Amino acid sequence: MSKPEKFFDENGLRLDGRRVDEIRPMKIEIGVLSRADGSCYLEWGNNKVLAGVFGPRELHPRRMQRPDTAIVRYRYNMAAFSVEDRIRPGQNRRATEISKVSREAFEPVVLTHLYPGAVIDVFAEILQADAGTRTAAINAATIALADAGIPMKGLISACAVGKVDGKLVLDLSKDEDNYGDADLPVAMTQDGDITLIQMDGNLTQDEFKEAMELVKVGCKQILEIQREALKGKFSQFDTEEIEPKIVAGVSESEVEIDEAVETDDTGTEEEVEDVEEDIVSNDENNEKPDENADYEDVEEGEDK
Ligand code: CDP
Repeated sequence: MSKPEKFFDENGLRLDGRRVDEIRPMKIEIGVLSRADGSCYLEWGNNKVLAGVFGPRELHPRRMQRPDTAIVRYRYNMAAFSVEDRIRPGQNRRATEISKVSREAFEPVVLTHLYPGAVIDVFAEILQADAGTRTAAINAATIALADAGIPMKGLISACAVGKVDGKLVLDLSKDEDNYGDADLPVAMTQDGDITLIQMDGNLTQDEFKEAMELVKVGCKQILEIQREALKGKFSQFDTEEIEPKIVAGVSESEVEIDEAVETDDTGTEEEVEDVEEDIVSNDENNEKPDENADYEDVEEGEDK
């Protein structure tokens, strides 16, 4: 592929017809892998990415466990057939680096302290690459983590911004990535805190500031697409029904529970009281769990 003669037409539109602040079309499918705890297939322009999440599950070998937290492992991999020139299968320096920075992009939002001794494995397989694969993989992985029901403070959205022919452009296409002056992939939380930033090429300080504003716009658009996809998948939970409404200082769900006790819908009133007593007595005892109890039944030598 040779360098295009020009990157913008007379109306300032890019080679693929996009405005400078426009991202490529994105399509998300959730729960596509039956053996994964969470999964996502994502298309972004001509990029095709599959993400699978396994865990939280007990980490082996046990010497690698952290007593206070789960560890997150992230593996970015390009399929040999994903690019024009077949690439050698397996991890290389580029994939190792992308895996590391992508894992770090999630660490601030995954509530790992809830799963001490566990591991959460995230696999991102690039099936077709067309610039922006690390950001596409992060966007897919965040959905797969949500699909796995892993508690997170929020979603992570990622997008690249770059400079082509002296102009800043959002979400670089392959030509813009190959022949542009700068490429700046960024990932951020839904509150706008940056969790990944890398840069290839050169930008002035002013361009850098402008680029960061532009990429925030891109990440916001992606966040909306991610939210819509998750809403679509989990739409069986009618939000109107589960949203507690406050009626004169008492939430509607409390009113329903009281009525259920009176009308004996969910068991007798005594049964409900018994359960309440159990909860209180457990609280009072406040027995500390044996830290090793979870692993007692795992034989030594089971480590893989
Ligand atoms: O994909 P991303 O932009 O995150 O990473 P990159 O290293 O900037 O690569 C840009 C693009 O170059 C990729 O999306 C692929 O389309 C292509 N590429 C390739 O053809 N062969 C490789 N070994 C690596 C990347």
